[in-house]
Amino acid sequence: MKLFLDTANLTEIRTMWETGILDGVTTNPTLVAQEGRVFEDVLKEICALGVPSVSAEVVATDKDGMLKEGRYLAALHPSIYVKCPMTPAGLGATKVLAAEGIRVNMTLVFSANQALLAAKVGATYVSPFIGRLDDHGEDGMALIRDIVLIYRNYRFPTQVLAASIRHPVHVLDAAKAGADIATLPYSVMEKLVHHPLTDIGLARFLKDWEKVPKPLRVPPSDR
Ligand code: E4P
Repeated sequence: MKLFLDTANLTEIRTMWETGILDGVTTNPTLVAQEGRVFEDVLKEICALGVPSVSAEVVATDKDGMLKEGRYLAALHPSIYVKCPMTPAGLGATKVLAAEGIRVNMTLVFSANQALLAAKVGATYVSPFIGRLDDHGEDGMALIRDIVLIYRNYRFPTQVLAASIRHPVHVLDAAKAGADIATLPYSVMEKLVHHPLTDIGLARFLKDWEKVPKPLRVPPSDR
């Protein structure tokens, strides 16, 4: 399962990139706005780190506008994946962009039927928003399970990217359900690494190590 970071913050991305666990980054207009920086500069800096998959979203709402923005974003760097929203225009734009070899991440997906359509137009990733569904009183993880089943039934190559993740149990359940990718806020990714028993265990090992007799460091001839 691939793990992406859901942020446009370079410090967070650099920190996780250093650990070796990061497979990609997803951004959206809200995350980019939080940084107060030029979108293209942020994208180029993320790509320059070597991150192999960086999702960048179009903000046009009509098909022609999405095509223009999608081609522009994809031309910035070979690691860019273009995010198109799940709308009639977004489906049409995805079909054209995919035929041109531009990889599309179809975003704002909230039903299995929407995911079926995303696969039919050739999206590389489909992004079901599980946290927002849970917030709405629905079962986000059931949607992941349905999409995985449908894609397996028809051997669609579209990868399921579990998005809008709120906590580590979402990551665990998405992995059990067979999601190809999960995109996580920095805070959730940090929680995957840590366990209190790891910290207690390490502190005990280091303390016990102090009791191990150490060899004399003075060479015998100088004694
Ligand atoms: C995914 O690509 C989206 O940007 C993201 O996961 C949305 O998450 P949110 O519901 O926490 O805003």
